[in-house]
Amino acid sequence: MFAADAGRSQHFSLIEQGWLLDFSRLPLTRPQLEKVAGSIEAAGLADAVKRLFGGAIVNPSEQRPALHMALRAADPASFPGADPEQTLAGHRHRFLELAGDFHGGGAGLTDLIHVGIGGSDLGPRLVADALDHNDGSVRVHWLSTVDARRTQRLLNSLDPSSTGVVIASKSFSTEETLLQAATLRDWLGDRFINQAWAATASPDSALAFGLADGHILPFPDWTGGRFSLWSSVGVSAAAVIGRARFEQLLQGAAQADAVFSGQAPLKSLAVHVAMLMHFLRRGLGANTLGVVAYDPRLALLGDYLQQLVMESLGKGVDLDDAPLTETTSPLIFGGRGTDLQHSIFQALHQAPDSHPLLLVAALESGHDRQDWHRVQLAHLLAQATAMARGREDDRPCRRLPGNRPVMTLIAERLDARALGFLLASFEHAVFALSVLWRINPFDQWGVEEGKRLAAAYKESLAECGDLDLEAWLTLSDRGMRS
Ligand code: F6P
Repeated sequence: MFAADAGRSQHFSLIEQGWLLDFSRLPLTRPQLEKVAGSIEAAGLADAVKRLFGGAIVNPSEQRPALHMALRAADPASFPGADPEQTLAGHRHRFLELAGDFHGGGAGLTDLIHVGIGGSDLGPRLVADALDHNDGSVRVHWLSTVDARRTQRLLNSLDPSSTGVVIASKSFSTEETLLQAATLRDWLGDRFINQAWAATASPDSALAFGLADGHILPFPDWTGGRFSLWSSVGVSAAAVIGRARFEQLLQGAAQADAVFSGQAPLKSLAVHVAMLMHFLRRGLGANTLGVVAYDPRLALLGDYLQQLVMESLGKGVDLDDAPLTETTSPLIFGGRGTDLQHSIFQALHQAPDSHPLLLVAALESGHDRQDWHRVQLAHLLAQATAMARGREDDRPCRRLPGNRPVMTLIAERLDARALGFLLASFEHAVFALSVLWRINPFDQWGVEEGKRLAAAYKESLAECGDLDLEAWLTLSDRGMRS
């Protein structure tokens, strides 16, 4: 394809708001791309976007709109139905002010522990990691999975008199989060009331847990967990990067909203990502998509997209509750490029299965070690080329078949605005795919059964007393029969 088209890189790429999406290394023709664009249009993207931004019930199984765009809008009340009591701007101001105090040292804390999981962890942790300029007064520690050893080690290293806690949970009922929060409450003792905050859509539960009324940072329940970065769930990220950068993050995201809801959504980065994911998934039948960072600041992007894409698009029925006959979400995996080169890339280059990749980087480094940064960029180009071109060799074991689908996504500059634009564009890409595939991207019923069963098993385990392997096997077997 490159041989037949001298301008292939220009013809199969897009530059928007400081991001370059290069999809020239996909086995994709212009008519194929136009066909996908036509399908998205025919599926009613324009109408669906109007409904989304107009506050319609786009999450039918929970009878809710999805108005997370209002959380990052200059005027949240401009979104119909989003802000009937005109409170959103005030809530945003409050959590940003608090974050500014944490960042600037005004809160008098040296450390902040953020407890949350899923959407109450992944987005904020990615943003904090990507945009940390090391200029804040507070160290933020992230607790997500139930890890007693790590929590204990962390608490041993901290001083309760100068440590704050943010409990981030939309529902304020997530077991992993509350278990750890209760331990932190015990650890802080009387200080808990003054040194703990909750970012939640369930203020009553937070109050019942012992939080002070004035320390509850609320957000509306139409905010999906995986879309909650823009709400007070982002407070700990804002504490790391500072209020001003967090505001720029919101502005960048609002810019993506303007493009997606504007005159030409089909030309947007978001819809291009959707079209390419559709082509890979249903055109090429790819089961996976690797999101690989060649800039360590974006190392957590794969984790973040794993939840955004798989919780949103991994569904089994369509909008009419009819079983889907075609595939939906790919399995998203990811990590740091130069690490993965020394672990999984061998299989990606030569094993018979093909795993499409999205390689991500930024041209500016954000640090003084230009030489280090250029090494990353060189490796990105090398991998993108080796995957696509392959390698001829007399010895079969040294041959690379090539034609492995690989895309690159490059920022001119990875600042807060650019990151906000990117993350919101991915949200819209997911929405566009949900329109094309006719599924509800805003619910996640599949994860509920595991929670229900875990509660039942917890009771059985409590009755068991000491466990040995025979008892474990009996318990496991019983679960498959009752
Ligand atoms: O995994 C299910 C889920 O509900 C996610 O959608 C959500 O981000 C996560 O759990 C955490 O939920 P919460 O913020 O309510 O604690």
